[in-house]
Amino acid sequence: MPKDTDMLDDRGMKTKWTAADIPAQVGRRVLITGGNSGIGFEAALELARKGAEVILPARTQAKAEEAAARIGKQVPRAKVYPETLDLADLTSVRAFSKRVMERFPGQSLDLLINNAGVMALPTREVTVDGFERQFATNYLGPFALTGLLLPAMKVRAGSRVVTVSSGASKQGKIDFENLQSEREYKPMFQAYAQSKLADLLFAQELQRRLTAVGSPIISTAAHPGFAVTNLQGDHLGAGMKILTAVLKPFLAHDAAHGALPTLYAAVAAEAVAGGYYGPNGVGEMKGYPVAVPLAPGAMDEAVARRLWVESERLTGVQFGALSAVAMVGGLD
Ligand SMILES: NC(=O)c1ccc[n+]([C@@H]2O[C@H](COP(=O)([O-])OP(=O)(O)OC[C@H]3O[C@@H](n4cnc5c(N)ncnc54)[C@H](OP(=O)(O)O)[C@@H]3O)[C@@H](O)[C@H]2O)c1
Repeated sequence: MPKDTDMLDDRGMKTKWTAADIPAQVGRRVLITGGNSGIGFEAALELARKGAEVILPARTQAKAEEAAARIGKQVPRAKVYPETLDLADLTSVRAFSKRVMERFPGQSLDLLINNAGVMALPTREVTVDGFERQFATNYLGPFALTGLLLPAMKVRAGSRVVTVSSGASKQGKIDFENLQSEREYKPMFQAYAQSKLADLLFAQELQRRLTAVGSPIISTAAHPGFAVTNLQGDHLGAGMKILTAVLKPFLAHDAAHGALPTLYAAVAAEAVAGGYYGPNGVGEMKGYPVAVPLAPGAMDEAVARRLWVESERLTGVQFGALSAVAMVGGLD
């Protein structure tokens, strides 16, 4: 019997890429947000198992330490650095980035995985910076973190920024008149979907800008399909709770499988600059990682450029040389 990982399609490509296919990560340093829970934890665990050093920030130091201990139980030699980061607070994002750069000076990161997120908060919440919480956590925080830490990434092939989006990006629309959902707030198919479409637009625009300056660092994106995690936790409204409970038994996979597209985007040799990866099953809900189509809205370069400029303005974080690239395409 062939092993999962030995199965090939008619083009000779592996049809079932699993954690066993992760190349050795010894000597590589990874930073993954949301690594204390769900698919982020599973991704951190597998990268540690392959020898990567993992910087693992959580919303509290205790949560980060608890996750590091859980990894340590399975991978006794793991090097995990617990840290504190609240992506919904730009002061925290700046302070965390500064600590990372002080502790690991120079170009020292191989992988930055923007995984953390929140979904479908039933009522509109506003962060300390005055942003809608889903847009802040899922998009603006990761945008700022990437801008602040890009100078810390190793400028060589193999360095990647991975952004975790969602199938909900297909329902998303970037409404520049309602970015913070102050005019209209629908938890899932407007606010969450907008934030996850913003993630994809960012991943694509980041790649265009890296290409324009000749950087070997690449930007990729992934979505987990439907993975059973704390994302569908107690915070959901009654409607979403019922919907996820009904669909779970048929459509969902576990967090370990949900982590595979992220891991593929992060380390698979087959993943390409600007690539987007998700599960290969029906409706991209579960299965093994493959290249998946971008939401149509994620291919609009004018929207991507405008969103980038707006995000620099909102966060106050500039991307150095990459910011100047906006002028090449022209601003709308
Ligand atoms: N599960 C799915 O079916 C699914 C589908 C599509 C996309 N996704 C995406 O996958 C990613 C991971 O989600 P998951 O399913 O693994 O859910 P999860 O188990 O709830 O994990 C989310 C992680 O994000 C962290 N987080 C939330 N707010 C944060 C903040 N302000 N600052 C820093 N970290 C914060 C959480 O920390 P706490 O533990 O403190 O809450 C947790 O570690 C998310 O981006 C999500 O949108 C998931």
